[in-house]
Amino acid sequence: MQIVILAAGQGKRMNSRLPKVLQPLAGQSLLGHVLQTSRALAPQALCVVYGHGGDQVRAALDAPDLRWAEQTQQLGTGHAVQQAMPALAGEGSVLVLYGDVPLIRTQTLRELLNAAGDSRVALLTVTLDEPAGYGRILRDAAGKVLAIVEEKDADAGQKAIREVNTGILCAPAHLLCDWLARLRNDNAQGEYYLTDVIGMAVGDGVEVVARQPAQAWEVLGVNNKAQLAELERVHQANLARELLEAGVTLRDPTRIDIRGELVCGRDVEIDVGCVFEGRVTLADGVKVGAHSVLRDVRVGEGTEIKPFCHFDGAEIGAGGVLGPYARLRPGTVLAEDVHVGNFVELKNAQVAAHSKANHLAYVGDATVGSRVNIGAGVITCNYDGANKHRTVIGDDAFIGSDCQLVAPVTVGAGATLGAGTTLTQDAPVEALTLSRTRQLSITGWQRPVKKPKA
Ligand code: UD1
Ligand code: CA
Repeated sequence: MQIVILAAGQGKRMNSRLPKVLQPLAGQSLLGHVLQTSRALAPQALCVVYGHGGDQVRAALDAPDLRWAEQTQQLGTGHAVQQAMPALAGEGSVLVLYGDVPLIRTQTLRELLNAAGDSRVALLTVTLDEPAGYGRILRDAAGKVLAIVEEKDADAGQKAIREVNTGILCAPAHLLCDWLARLRNDNAQGEYYLTDVIGMAVGDGVEVVARQPAQAWEVLGVNNKAQLAELERVHQANLARELLEAGVTLRDPTRIDIRGELVCGRDVEIDVGCVFEGRVTLADGVKVGAHSVLRDVRVGEGTEIKPFCHFDGAEIGAGGVLGPYARLRPGTVLAEDVHVGNFVELKNAQVAAHSKANHLAYVGDATVGSRVNIGAGVITCNYDGANKHRTVIGDDAFIGSDCQLVAPVTVGAGATLGAGTTLTQDAPVEALTLSRTRQLSITGWQRPVKKPKA
């Protein structure tokens, strides 16, 4: 089986510089979704027909398993498939999909392929209350499919037919090749219709069977931002339902957005308004507070993330307490039972077990030992304007509030830094290190008084 994906349409109605099939749905391009579904079917060949904005499409999605066929002029769906035929083998069957129909399910396609077998044409159809705009399925008295007539070519009686063509079909490659070569464009739109191959198949005595998708949304196409937004909601609802079925607690399944892959252990709880991007793994018992954004993050068992956190490229150990308003940036690795509080930013920081930075701190390019306490307002000065430098903090160190650690610098194990210290040299183990002018009190000092106005 070989797959052709039609993706040459301009998508003018998106009103966007980005080609239609590259518009994102759940963090992945429309065409990316169709490619993912296609690959699950392990086709012998996978060919994308591209046109408008094609270079951008190729650059975004090219892969060793893809073949690309250019359709310079959009002369119709039949013409589009024809452009792919030289890239395909003459044997086996060809499945036609669409780059702007992103939610088609692998299972539905498997059933369509089974229905087609080696010798039949299989067509995916749906019955709509409002069929306007679609090609109608013509059947004989016995219910056999005879042909498809496009809306613009249909007479009043045909327009009353509610069974419509989704566009998705499967046919034997050698027959399809022959039929495509025989297509004519003497129709209302002056186009080479892929749909005309159905009538040709019937004329050649090839059996045509129709199948329906389990859900109507599988075959919905995207032509504008409103339809894109609609399908996004459909897809998010599906993902939320899968999570609920797997035992995840979602405070409100309509208020979660997954733009990638979210893997959850048992008894995970997710509050409203959270966004998950890239690959996020939440171990057993993890709680994610409201309005948190997690991208490419792994969270260990039992860790609690309080509301309004933003984590990107971080690995978080078990039993941690994070947020509210915590920010973890790429390269951050937290061991077990680490606490990161409000307005604390960590970047490329490796923090060992039981350490805490609870308030208003910046810890960047740092190695932090176990049981370290980082006080309020502490910052690592990791950047000298040209290069980044590391800060190393030993086990059991206590960093007083409002210290600046001017990297490269090392704080020895068990060391204490007095509040407000600007550390420019290494702090020895166990000792108290301070950099402060001595406190001075002047008794009998008079405050200035305001001069009387003239
Ligand atoms: C097509 C079908 C119609 C079906 C409908 C479902 C034909 C003639 N008609 O109609 O029966 O009900 O889809 O949505 O097939 N494309 C190209 N190159 C072209 C023309 C189209 O790549 O030259 C691609 C488009 O990007 C789009 C798809 O094919 O993804 C369908 O094209 P569109 O013009 O939307 O077809 P319809 O007229 O809607
Ligand atoms: Ca269409």
